[in-house]
Amino acid sequence: MSAYVVAIAGASGVIYGLRLVEELLKSADSVYLCISRHAFPIIKMETGLNWTGKTESATMKKIRAYYQSSKIQYLDETNLAAPIASGSFLTGAMFVVPCSMKTLSGIANGYANNLIERSADVAMKEGRRLILAPREMPFSAIHLENMLKLVRLGVTVAPPVPAFYQKPESLNDIVDFVVGKILDSAGIEHSLFKRWE
Ligand SMILES: Cc1cc2nc3c(=O)[nH]c(=O)nc-3n(C[C@H](O)[C@H](O)[C@H](O)COP(=O)(O)O)c2cc1C
Repeated sequence: MSAYVVAIAGASGVIYGLRLVEELLKSADSVYLCISRHAFPIIKMETGLNWTGKTESATMKKIRAYYQSSKIQYLDETNLAAPIASGSFLTGAMFVVPCSMKTLSGIANGYANNLIERSADVAMKEGRRLILAPREMPFSAIHLENMLKLVRLGVTVAPPVPAFYQKPESLNDIVDFVVGKILDSAGIEHSLFKRWE
């Protein structure tokens, strides 16, 4: 069984998280998706999608309709009783894409104040793969210290920095390259870009 956890925090670049979910759905049995309350307006601003629902299930309905898949389990960031808040619930890799500096700090310091931070805490304590795509520019010393701390703890820090040797022709090409690199970090096969030979 393959179950992945994807979190979208309130940083720019939500399109990477959306595309990552789309790609994971191709092979996963289920994708547990948590979106922070600060991310919803950014999703609307950057993609035009209004995923805010009155309840957790209303939001899930919108997201399932978008992906046309019932393999997505949407979980509210306040739902600390969700399965992914417990280490006894088995999942594969967890991704936070994009990851805000606030969520980065919460994870680096074990704050576990919402479902994203708690699930990341669980992934770390259970020794599961955790991949963060922090987005900010420029980074402060605090941001970099948090990233260094996490890398030393075995977390993968994969900022969404595109490369241009692939000669991207569209925004999609850039997004696919970044998402492909994130999937590489989790050892998940994809054909989002042509590999260097
Ligand atoms: C349009 C918009 C874009 C933002 N982009 C970023 C960003 O790229 N990186 C970041 O760390 N914070 C960004 N923020 C600020 C975060 O959303 C804010 O710190 C929030 O508290 C993060 O909460 P969360 O991590 O729980 O989602 C942005 C806010 C807005 C409104």
